[in-house]
Amino acid sequence: MQRRNFLKNSGIAVAGFAVVPTANLFAGMADTKVKIGIIGVGLRGQNHLELLLRRKDVEVVAICDISERMLASAKEIIRKSGKKMPEIFTGDVFAWKQMLEKIQLDGVIIATPWEWHKLMIIGSLEAGVEYVGSEVMIGTTLEDHWDVVKAAEQHKAQVMMLENVCYRRDVMAVLNMVRQGLFGEIIHLQGGYQHDLREVKFNDGVNPNGHGVEYGAKGFSEASWRTEHSVHRNGDLYPTHGIGPIAHYANINRGNRFLSLCSFSSKARGLHNHIVKQGGENHPNAKVIFKLGDVVTTNIQCANGETVLLQHDTNLPRPYSLGFRVQGTEGLWMDLNKGIYIQDKSAKPHQWDTAKEWLDKYDHPLWQRWSKDTEGAGHGGMDFFVIHAFIESIKRKTETPMNVYDAATWSAITPLSERSIALGNQTVEFPDFTGGKWMYEKPVFSLGDAY
Ligand SMILES: NC(=O)c1ccc[n+]([C@@H]2O[C@H](COP(=O)([O-])OP(=O)(O)OC[C@H]3O[C@@H](n4cnc5c(N)ncnc54)[C@H](O)[C@@H]3O)[C@@H](O)[C@H]2O)c1
Repeated sequence: MQRRNFLKNSGIAVAGFAVVPTANLFAGMADTKVKIGIIGVGLRGQNHLELLLRRKDVEVVAICDISERMLASAKEIIRKSGKKMPEIFTGDVFAWKQMLEKIQLDGVIIATPWEWHKLMIIGSLEAGVEYVGSEVMIGTTLEDHWDVVKAAEQHKAQVMMLENVCYRRDVMAVLNMVRQGLFGEIIHLQGGYQHDLREVKFNDGVNPNGHGVEYGAKGFSEASWRTEHSVHRNGDLYPTHGIGPIAHYANINRGNRFLSLCSFSSKARGLHNHIVKQGGENHPNAKVIFKLGDVVTTNIQCANGETVLLQHDTNLPRPYSLGFRVQGTEGLWMDLNKGIYIQDKSAKPHQWDTAKEWLDKYDHPLWQRWSKDTEGAGHGGMDFFVIHAFIESIKRKTETPMNVYDAATWSAITPLSERSIALGNQTVEFPDFTGGKWMYEKPVFSLGDAY
């Protein structure tokens, strides 16, 4: 594919919110393969790799990682796919820069530890890559988020955060219902990340889940980096799975925006108790003091008057739940009790309908069209869509359905919640990364069945 100039020459406002009409997009593109490079082929990067290898319109031309073990697994996946082995970059923590200098890429996918995302996104943009897909989140500090937004604007390039929960089937059916006005005017939204990660944060350095209570240099996969964030930081460390869908329900950055935020943190017991229970009280990690409260609760006020409640709960025993609640003047959905209630439409007043009946009826057109292609894709199929959207945007030379402003807004909740907690639960102002454009823009996410 052509590089940077196609966007500039075509006059498409990629750093803004313009969308290219879908007609006349594919003339002469039947044989075009999108050239992708992946930075980080750990457990998440390997999921993306598998999905990319399944596609006829993609060529994975380069991969980069610093772990021999992860690279060996990635190579095995590529061999099994029968596709050509990409060029491999490794050897030091900046090998990705060599990849970006040497290989012409239409898009880069980044699936490394959080603290690398900003550097790798900006490095990709500076190397002339037009489309960057970053795993959650795009930075750690507020400054990081501003830097990424400014770099995307400067380079007129697309930065899409690969927030897959936005594509969960029930989440999308509810989006369809919201857009058709079934819940009335939206008043309040809830969501979060409520996932017992104790066996992800600690393992034996060999297995990705549990079998030991090591972390850092002795841990494997996320235990080797993610746990440090629980030692040093107290805030909502993983807001995007909850806030992404909520932002679409509330048209955030498209007629609405987050105005302010206030967070509370409980005491921290779960990780210490886990270490003692699994490793004994004499294990060296039993002395570690964790800063992250077990349950962090965040309230957000929106410009159009809605309130949002987010929860981050990863250190205690509990079954997985994102805890969505979408409530309007006519009714509500709650994912945990699998219930929907719509005034005058539900079977009985004051009683929940089984959500499934409604979700089936309002199944989103994207799922209706592509559900066969989601088979085998991670997280119940939703991972297919996020990669699909990224690749289709590159092919169409258009803006990604979730853009850099969404990415910055959603992931900035982490440093803002840290600030609020550090200030004794003060309400902090939410920055407007769009610079006022939120007032004029319209929703673009998944309006049809294309991507
Ligand atoms: N959206 C989801 O559902 C989902 C699920 C899991 C993980 N994630 C996100 O994906 C990202 C990666 O998580 P993971 O579970 O794959 O972690 P992981 O530890 O398994 O993989 C990270 C990989 O990055 C590599 N790496 C680290 N520094 C590097 C560098 N400087 N250059 C090249 N490679 C480097 C590591 O060697 C490792 O292979 C994180 O942002 C995580 O939050 C998202």
